[in-house]
Amino acid sequence: MILYINCCVREESRTARLAQAYLEKLGKEYKEVYLPDENIQPMDRQRVNQRMELAGKGDFDDEMFRYARDFVEADEIVIAAPYWDLSFPSLLKIYIENIYAVGLVCRYTDEGEAVGLCKAERLTYITTAGGQYVPDYSYGYLKSLAMDFFGIKSTRLIKAEMLDIVGYDAEAIVQKAIDEM
Ligand SMILES: Cc1cc2nc3c(=O)[nH]c(=O)nc-3n(C[C@H](O)[C@H](O)[C@H](O)COP(=O)(O)O)c2cc1C
Repeated sequence: MILYINCCVREESRTARLAQAYLEKLGKEYKEVYLPDENIQPMDRQRVNQRMELAGKGDFDDEMFRYARDFVEADEIVIAAPYWDLSFPSLLKIYIENIYAVGLVCRYTDEGEAVGLCKAERLTYITTAGGQYVPDYSYGYLKSLAMDFFGIKSTRLIKAEMLDIVGYDAEAIVQKAIDEM
């Protein structure tokens, strides 16, 4: 199963268009999680305590782990999110908080090393930026999580940038990114 995590907030999102083109090229069925429509909550005190208690018992059947369960089982992960404030919309961070359940997406050895438990071979991150795209706090962060903690074997970035700069043809840049996929 391909898991498509869609964090494209705007209705006319160019990032979502890129992602749609990519999914069509893959030509497989996918399960979409459209984050703006999910009532996904940050990990507040009560939820952290609940998660620690359940994880301590190895009980991951609870509703609160449903995003994490899908993430672990996916063969491929596709994340689409626009470049916001050098990073991505906070909704995606909330999603990450919700899936990062130790014992489910990864475990730790006695030496403190993370061992990833996710099945996906690849995570593809798709983004568009108004200006120049700097990957450090978005793709770079997700790449570290995926490869160093979740056990996902490879990651790749698909991007279109300079879309809001006067004099640049945003439509042509997006189309070029689609053609080059
Ligand atoms: C809240 C917000 C923050 C943004 N921050 C940045 C930024 O830090 N750097 C940048 O180059 N563009 C920034 N932009 C512009 C978007 O990256 C750009 O318009 C992008 O293509 C939006 O993707 P979308 O069409 O999928 O919504 C920002 C836009 C919004 C709405």
